[in-house]
Amino acid sequence: SKNIMVAIDGYSSCGKSTLAKALAKELHFIYVDSGAMYRAVALYFLRNNIDLKDEHQIKEALNNVHLNFHSRDYQTHITLNDEEVSEEIRLMPVSDMVSAVAALHDVRVEMVRQQQRMGKSKNVVMDGRDIGTVVFPDAQVKFFMTADPKIRAERRYKELLPKNPEISLEDVFENLAHRDYQDTTRAESPLTRADDAIILDNTDLTPEEQLAFAISKVK
Ligand code: C5P
Repeated sequence: SKNIMVAIDGYSSCGKSTLAKALAKELHFIYVDSGAMYRAVALYFLRNNIDLKDEHQIKEALNNVHLNFHSRDYQTHITLNDEEVSEEIRLMPVSDMVSAVAALHDVRVEMVRQQQRMGKSKNVVMDGRDIGTVVFPDAQVKFFMTADPKIRAERRYKELLPKNPEISLEDVFENLAHRDYQDTTRAESPLTRADDAIILDNTDLTPEEQLAFAISKVK
């Protein structure tokens, strides 16, 4: 029988990964965090001072980037050239530049290729910005997540604060607004709802309520 694909797209910090992980666990599917891939590429570009206007540098850099997920549990563990970078990719330096890197044609072509390969023969829940529109337009179930921007910033701030005591709510809010703007207005695969995606506004929903809603739709 054909493998099943659940696509979850939406704005930054909408709880996509929380829902995707819970759903994957419940359904015994593989979870793929596509945003972590763009973040790891952005980290490589940052460390190696890649000029985002230089296509030759970008192509060469992409040839030197090797990403791997190792999923012992349903958390995202990603390596960049065999180095564990799961925590570093969440920090502000990467968050501030990832959307610019993700807007690059060559970067998207390579990431989409790898994502499609991962979903080829397995049941997968994948979250991101273009999963239901570009990566898996034929996904059997698609969700488009949204939530009040202030609530999103507060949630992300609380998540980041323990390890980043210097962070401010305002910085987080601005980063989310800036990424949403870049992600929805870019020329290549902008963030948009697929016609057949189910809208899930979770402003007033607990993670448990979201999971129950999503499971009812998948079934
Ligand atoms: O999901 P997350 O917020 O970690 O993604 C980080 C960034 O990666 C997004 O702001 C977006 O610019 C980019 N991204 C993308 N396409 C995806 C997943 C993420 O462009 N499928």
